[in-house]
Amino acid sequence: MSLDHQFDKKHLWHPYTSMSEPLPCYGVESAEQCLLTLESGEKLIDGMSSWWACLFGYNVPELNAAAKNQIDKMAHVMFGGLTHQPAIELGKKLVSMTPKHLEKVFLCDSGSVAVEVSLKMALQYWHAKGTPKSQFLTIRNGYHGDTFGAMSVTDPEGAMHDLYHRFLPEQIFAPQPSICFHEQWNSDSLLEITELVINNKSNIAAIILEPIVQGAGGMYFYHPEYLKGVRALCDEYDLLLIADEIATGFGRTGKLFACEHADINPDIICVGKSLTGGYMSLAATLTTEHIARTISDGKAGVFMHGPTFMGNPLACAVANASLDKLMNMNWQQSVKQIEQWLQQYLSPCHTLSTVKSVRVLGAIGVVQLNEAVDVAVVQKKFVELGVWIRPFGKLVYVMPPYIITEAQLKQLCDAIYQVVTPS
Ligand SMILES: Cc1ncc(COP(=O)(O)O)c(C=O)c1O
Repeated sequence: MSLDHQFDKKHLWHPYTSMSEPLPCYGVESAEQCLLTLESGEKLIDGMSSWWACLFGYNVPELNAAAKNQIDKMAHVMFGGLTHQPAIELGKKLVSMTPKHLEKVFLCDSGSVAVEVSLKMALQYWHAKGTPKSQFLTIRNGYHGDTFGAMSVTDPEGAMHDLYHRFLPEQIFAPQPSICFHEQWNSDSLLEITELVINNKSNIAAIILEPIVQGAGGMYFYHPEYLKGVRALCDEYDLLLIADEIATGFGRTGKLFACEHADINPDIICVGKSLTGGYMSLAATLTTEHIARTISDGKAGVFMHGPTFMGNPLACAVANASLDKLMNMNWQQSVKQIEQWLQQYLSPCHTLSTVKSVRVLGAIGVVQLNEAVDVAVVQKKFVELGVWIRPFGKLVYVMPPYIITEAQLKQLCDAIYQVVTPS
């Protein structure tokens, strides 16, 4: 069946795209393991895991079975005043998997909403303590989502803060951490953020950041000692630390959660994306007993959030199956293997004059160019080479499903080399 691309082009808004001059879209008929089948019949190797989410690729038997099994019981019931087994089981899993002391779980609809919830938790915590605070500190080049609170802590240029001037709350931005993951550590890297904390501590509700890997804001990997230093700053000046693990959670960086690289525990964590193995939208915000109790004992007495699809049973059932699958496979070995292949097969890119840097961490491989790409042109070339890779700005990257084979990953990396080779 061929798709009605005319309708799509005229009526359907795609992400970050103009309605008058939309970028071309490719029709997908089906997807299986690491292959997307286009309506033309062409098969593309998936290098994106559908924006970091599909840990085990597509059409995964265990996840299909979980969805089918649950849908015959109930697709959804409200979470207000009702509860159910899929949510309870997921809560138990998240409490046991996430860093220590995070034991109160708020199930919500998407990553952006999980971030909103985390910001509200921090604000309500200080309000309940009788010392209200109204700002957040974060680091430049971060990305936390497209809703207003999340956007306010996303990089000001990346999130086009000018466009929403006076509507977006003003936050405090420290420079991007200067020392990369594999570089020699130098504690001077913490000087600026320390100064910002000292100057603004009475009004900072929390520091929010993506631990170790800044994703959509630049695909940058920073030094674990920086994260350790930020945790120590939060302890010293009595600030909360929110770790946005929406992109990094569930093994992507080589640790189950990226906070583990620095051996720190955040006060609040956000997870999403691959929580359901990339099947559907579900996210969660977890916090400590102390924060939850403080909020609950405060003047408001309740936490003020409750989305319609909170704890959706169908999504929770699939998330449970996905987390079981993850914990029952040797994901550490798979991610380590992908890391080695990425290092090996992306290394030829180092020599190209178009390339500024090549970096790999866990199952993330990034080629940063000197100039921004023309997405439509580059995308077409990738499709011709049989791969699905969607670059942005100067960044061409892959973040494959954990089940990718060596031959498939090599084809992805070879395609990158070919496409970024100067003509
Ligand atoms: C670190 C991080 N936080 C939050 C989000 C927002 O998640 P969602 O797109 O599910 O709203 C993203 C999405 O890319 C992300 O990478």
